Amino acid sequence: MLGTGGCVAVLVVSLLILQFLKMQWASRKLPPGPIPFPILGTLWCFGFEWHQGSLSKFSKVYGKTFTIWIGHMPMVVLNGYHAVRDVLINHSKETSWRIVTPFVRDTMHGKGILFSSGHTWKQQRRFGMMTLRTLGMGKKGLEYRVQEEASYLVELFANTKGKPMDPSSFLFYSVSSVISRVVFGHNFSIQDEIFHKLIECIEYEGHFFLSSFHLLYELCPWLMRYLPGPHQKAFSCLEFIHSFSRKEIQNHKEKKKLDDSWDFIDFYLEEIEKNKGDPSSTFDEDNLLHVIYDLFTAGTDTIVSTLRWVFLCMVVHPDVQEKVQKEIDAVLTPSQCISYEDQKSMPYTSAVIYEILRFNFVLLAGTFRQCGSDTTLLGFPIKKGTIIIVDIASALNDPEQWETPQQFNPNHFLDKDGNFFIREAFIPFSAGPRLCLGEKLAKTELFLFITNVLRAFTLQLPEGMTEVNTRPVEGRFAVQAHPYVICAVPRKTIAA
Ligand code: HEM
Repeated sequence: MLGTGGCVAVLVVSLLILQFLKMQWASRKLPPGPIPFPILGTLWCFGFEWHQGSLSKFSKVYGKTFTIWIGHMPMVVLNGYHAVRDVLINHSKETSWRIVTPFVRDTMHGKGILFSSGHTWKQQRRFGMMTLRTLGMGKKGLEYRVQEEASYLVELFANTKGKPMDPSSFLFYSVSSVISRVVFGHNFSIQDEIFHKLIECIEYEGHFFLSSFHLLYELCPWLMRYLPGPHQKAFSCLEFIHSFSRKEIQNHKEKKKLDDSWDFIDFYLEEIEKNKGDPSSTFDEDNLLHVIYDLFTAGTDTIVSTLRWVFLCMVVHPDVQEKVQKEIDAVLTPSQCISYEDQKSMPYTSAVIYEILRFNFVLLAGTFRQCGSDTTLLGFPIKKGTIIIVDIASALNDPEQWETPQQFNPNHFLDKDGNFFIREAFIPFSAGPRLCLGEKLAKTELFLFITNVLRAFTLQLPEGMTEVNTRPVEGRFAVQAHPYVICAVPRKTIAA
């Protein structure tokens, strides 16, 4: 006779077998892929860690459309430039829906821009785009705010007096100050502890997304909701960001400002007023909180990670740094306020920035979507509700599109006469109706931060250090460089 323990073991094994059979049955109607197992899904094929390029390895075996399983969730992957473009452009109507997993549902509630779909997404996105455009106009528009923060970043670097430093915290401060000024209308002091906590929370949210606790939450949300662990910290960080924003919204309501000093919150509060009484309106303070969260999370980690790669690249390739500086010296005077327009006269610098956005694309795979209706992707029938991973990284590394996809090579964006040109397969900001909302702001920030820093300093490794790790940190949703230290040595052209 079996004891209680034996009965439980038999029950668990039976359930696992049942789940295994269910998964094999479901696999029949999905594109090919490795065999999924209960709980593990197809993670065993990844060696239990999802690395950069992991998905492209599967495409060699299963083709450009294949299925992987995260736990019990099947996900159809579109790999390579043509497959990615086909989904983003030709099937945008069916595939523009954002993935809704238990964690996303419990934290985002279908609100904001980044994690919403359908009517809410359309209204919030249209308003977000329009407002960023409006804020970009005028003498004191977005570019002016970036210019001011870029000058302050140069000051922060100068204060290190050429001594070894990790630039990450300065970069986080400068980049989040830009978003702060756009959203709240002001920035914070670098000593402000609450602002530091805000930055820490934004960073934590990004790291949590690829952690095993996140996966556990997606597998058994009914249990994880009540257990302690890093997922509870992710919830409290989200709440901290919301409560920070709530206070800002309250301050905005209390103070009336002149029209030309309006920020994102001012425009949004006006939109709420305008739409009062319209039952189809999604403009309310809850959605505003989520839009603020989206702008901060999507607009901070991405730029900081890219800038960290840029500065690392400069010390690893001093020849590239020298060429960029030569171009800066030829086009700009030492004290001139640099504007985004100047990039038109700087083909090499532009090529370096675009190549870093390609080579060090900051997202591990790309974008997660969910089919809003039945469709056919590359000949495979895909059911409504199926999760799809649009592997943007594979388009940026597609050997059919790039001469040396696995190498850092600014020539990907230069013709034989040294003129800058953009390639069709350059889609780090995605494409189609869900294209990154901050593309213009991101390009402005990257250009102004990089040119201001490299005009003033030569970046180099500390004396005695000859090697630096250029591999990305594993197990992160954002592809990030390992922590490093560099020296920002003042350049003579500036001192003169
Ligand atoms: C290097 C910098 C950046 C990169 C590489 C980047 C890349 C991306 C990508 C790949 C997406 C997914 C689009 C899709 O689902 O197809 C996205 C979405 C988004 N990005 Fe960015 N981004 C950057 C900077 C920014 C900045 C500065 C902002 C803030 C102003 C921003 C705001 C957003 C928002 C709100 C979305 C959601 C759009 C939607 O779902 O409709 N991003 N970004």
